[in-house]
This record gives sequence, structure tokens and C-alpha cells, in this order.
Amino acid sequence: MGRACLGGVGLAAVLVASLSAAQGPARPAAQAGAAPMPRVVEKDGRWALMVDGAPYLMLGMQVNNSSAWPAMLPQVWPAVDRLHANTVEMPVYWEQLEPVQGKFDFSVVDALLAGAREHKVHLVLLWFGTWKNGAMHYTPEWVKRNPVKYPRVTGQDRVAENGAVVHGAPGDTMSPFATATMEADKAAFSALMRHLKTADPRHTVLMIQVENEINAYGSRRDYSPEATKLFEGQVPAEFAAAMKVNPGTWTEAFGAEAENTFQTWSIARYVEQVAKAGKAEYGIPLYLNHSLEDPLRAPREGRLAWPEMTDHVLDIWKATAPSLDLIAPDIYMSQYAQYEKVLDVYARAGDKSNGGNAMFVPESGNAAPYPRYFFAALGGHGTIGWSPFGLDLTGYANAPLGAPSVDNNLIDLFALNYEIVGPMQREIARLNFEGKLQAVCEDPTTRTPQTMVFGPWTASVSYGLRQFGGNFPGATPPAPNPNPTGRALVAQLGPDEFLVTGASSRVDFRPTDATGGKRRAWVRVEEGSYVDGKWKFRRIWNGDQTDYGLNFTTAPQVLRVTLMAY
Ligand code: DGJ
Repeated sequence: MGRACLGGVGLAAVLVASLSAAQGPARPAAQAGAAPMPRVVEKDGRWALMVDGAPYLMLGMQVNNSSAWPAMLPQVWPAVDRLHANTVEMPVYWEQLEPVQGKFDFSVVDALLAGAREHKVHLVLLWFGTWKNGAMHYTPEWVKRNPVKYPRVTGQDRVAENGAVVHGAPGDTMSPFATATMEADKAAFSALMRHLKTADPRHTVLMIQVENEINAYGSRRDYSPEATKLFEGQVPAEFAAAMKVNPGTWTEAFGAEAENTFQTWSIARYVEQVAKAGKAEYGIPLYLNHSLEDPLRAPREGRLAWPEMTDHVLDIWKATAPSLDLIAPDIYMSQYAQYEKVLDVYARAGDKSNGGNAMFVPESGNAAPYPRYFFAALGGHGTIGWSPFGLDLTGYANAPLGAPSVDNNLIDLFALNYEIVGPMQREIARLNFEGKLQAVCEDPTTRTPQTMVFGPWTASVSYGLRQFGGNFPGATPPAPNPNPTGRALVAQLGPDEFLVTGASSRVDFRPTDATGGKRRAWVRVEEGSYVDGKWKFRRIWNGDQTDYGLNFTTAPQVLRVTLMAY
């Protein structure tokens, strides 16, 4: 989605709409009056996160798992500020929130709210409840210590060499069939949502992630007697219908995927009850994050050793957990082909009830190849937000998933994206929602310029060129940058008028229909920036700065370009 070109829009309309949209990431905390609830909306196959009544783009950052404690925040906020993020994803730990059953401690949540308001950013809270990376490590002590009431999954029985049956051992993850655990999680999550309803009337918190990368590491499914009895029974009719399979047992209906499907459905059913109860308290958008396996690896059917929550279970979640507004991929794949494929799979045009899914990347690797993928998620897939993981300055680095160390230099590589887009974030979010924006990032495996078609005009993007020269015989042909860092974004403001920006790339335009032999002329190329929704002129680019195309370096530069064909 997001690549379709719509008809032109007048600049006046752009400015009027821009002015009406609230600027900046967060309003002053003291501002009076009720703010509209954030919402995830769909229109014409595209999605937006509405904040204060207008599309909002989350320029995100997720902190390390143990960085949301008040003692760590002095090492978090400077990184947020340096990154120019407008939204920070912070965990809320069940073990901290409810140390004694029924007694809630909101001091950590309140510290996050206060800090976010002070730093004028929004929050996305991550509910580390029953599941965190498939494990049960964030459950409170009173859950961990009572396995009879709050059982773990039971592993599969196996036959030892001497023929004796060795009964399945308890796993490191909770059984999704335990009503007591589900009720306890539901109660805690509901308490959190009730608290936010009163503590956050201005919606510093925009969305909540329910659980974290759920799965059942180490076991295909729960092999407890209750679970096995259910597994040997019939697939619930409603679920079979939603999945378009014939009624029957799980094995009859799903064949090699039966155990994965059964376990995923069981967890989704559990999570739906937690999410639904929370939403009844406070109707903020909720989402789920998926860990991923390589989306280009085949064949996949029946191969997974346990029900990893990756794209092949998207439809199970869509059918079973309607209280979730979207399902989001955590992308730790630095190769272009894989990253793009994941984006393709999760950005699903259309209404949620028809399987549609808004694009949101809550976690992306924080190593050097990743910053450019912000542009891929935005322009190619209409994302409502994007967030590198673990960019705080608490001294932890999650290599090899991310960079080997985190410091200001690393933060600066990512900050460039938000420096470019931040001042015009509301314009960008709106143009994106309206389908007028496209963007690309560098694919180091090809030298062919990437193209974006906007009706009569086609933008082309090349990488690895010197700024001077290139339009004459014998000039240096495009080649990949030494490191793949290139990116470019083009948005249509009028029939012949475009907003253009990028980094480490060259953008040019040509008439889409070249049959008449027409060529492109720059009528005017203005450099400037959006300030409070208004375009502020800085200078005109001409001569060397336009003769060979529009060259972007690592300086945050934004152009407004008017073209003519001759
Ligand atoms: C994905 C998880 O969702 C994160 O919480 C974190 O554990 C990363 N993996 C690894 O650092």
C-alpha cells in the first residue's frame, strides 16, 4: 500500500490542512480540556493513527527491557532527545505493578508519564504480562511460586531408551488453558488501563502492546491432559469458518499445522480476553508484536518446532483476537529483501474485519544498516510508526541483533531520519494517509535506479553518485553506497509540485510517458522547512545543485520542487 498515485492536490489545501493539525509530538501537560482518544483508522485501504484528530507518525524509540525503571530514566531521556523521537516505547512490568495480588503500584507508570510530558513525547506502553519473548519471566512472584494454580505448559511425553514413558516436563512459559492465570493477567491489565484513564486525560500514552512476542519456546503446544483433550476434539465451528477449513478435529482441519494452529489459537483466545477487558476500561488502541522467522525461507508448513508467532499465524490472530487493533512485526533482519518482504506481509490493505492490518514497526534493529528502513516502512507501506530497539544509554547492547555498542554516534545515525521528518511530521503523516507519499531505501544488490510513479511524473532515485556530474556520456554510473544508507521520499503536493527529501541519494524526475520525447525542466527548486505547519523558504537551488539531479547527503534538507515538461 502507499504506492498508488492519486491526483494532484493544491498547495493551498496542503497548508490549510497542515495548519489545522496540531504540531509536535505532545501538547503541554497543563493544556486544559478533553483530548480525543487516539484511534487507528482505515480509509481507502490505507491506515493512520489519529492523535488530536489528525494523522500522527510515531518517530519511535524502544528502550531496553530493564530501562523503564525510574533509576534508569536519566540514561534514557537524553537518548530520546538526541534521537528527536516523538514517541517512546516503554515496558510496564507485571511483577512490579502487582507485587502482591490485588495491590497495585503505579509509581513506575507515573514516573514514565511525568518524564514523557517533561520531554514532550508520547508513550507506547508494553504490557510485559503472562508472556515476554515466550517466557513467563515478568509474572509476579505469587504467580511463579504457585504452579498448581498458575500452571506452566506441559512438555510432550517421550519414550526413553529402556522403553519407559518419561512424562513431559513443565516449560518456561504459562499454559494458555489456565483460567486463573488469564483472570489474574486480565485483572492486572484492567487495573493499568483504569489507572491510565484517570492519570492520562491528555493521552500521553497513544497505544498499548499486549504481552510481548508471545510463543511457547521449547514446546509445540501444551501437552497437559486438558489441552490434549481439547486438541483431540473438534475445532470450534466459528474458528473453522473464519479460517475457511472444513469442520473436524484439529488434525483433520489443519494437517501438519494442527499443533501450531491449536496452540496459537489457545493463546490468541487468552490474549483476546485480556485485551477486551482492558479496552472496556479504557478504549486506547492495542496491538500485538510478532517475532519473525526468515520470511523468504521455504517450505514453512509444519516445520516450526514451536508455534513461533510469526506471519504465518496472522490470520489465526485476526480471527481470534478482534480487540487488537493491529499486529506488528519486530524486524531484526538487516538484508533489504527480507526487510521489504516482512513489510509487504504485515501491511495489509483493507478493513480490519477483512484481514486488513495497519503497518507499524515497534522494534527494528539498531545497527548501522537499519536507519534507511524507516523510509521503506513509511513510503512503501504507509507505516503509522517505526522504532529502533534499545537505543538508550544504559550500557546494554543486543548484538548480534543490533549494534555491538550504543553511543551518541549510533543514535545520530538514526536521528537523521527524525531530523528530516520531525519538523513536518504532521504533513508527512497526512500525505501518507492520503496516498500521496512514496519513499524508498537503498537495495545494495542492484544498480538500477528505483522509481516512484506519480501519474505524469516518475521520480527516480540513484545511489553512490558524486554530487557533481552525471548527465553526460562517460559520467560515473550509479553504484551502491559503500554502506547501504541511501533513502529518499517524494510526496505530491500538486500536479507538478513535489516535496522531496532524502539522504545519501540523488532524486530526479522525468515525464512518465516518454513517447512524445518530452523532458523535465526545473521551474523552481526551493529549500526550506515546515515551521508550525507553514513552509518557510530558505533558498533556491539552481546551477550545480540541480543540473545533475537533486543530491542529498547526510544533511537534513527538504525541497519543494515545481516541474514542467518541454
Ligand atoms: C525482541 C523482544 O521483543 C525485545 O523485548 C527484546 O528481547 C529483543 N527481542 C532482543 O533484544
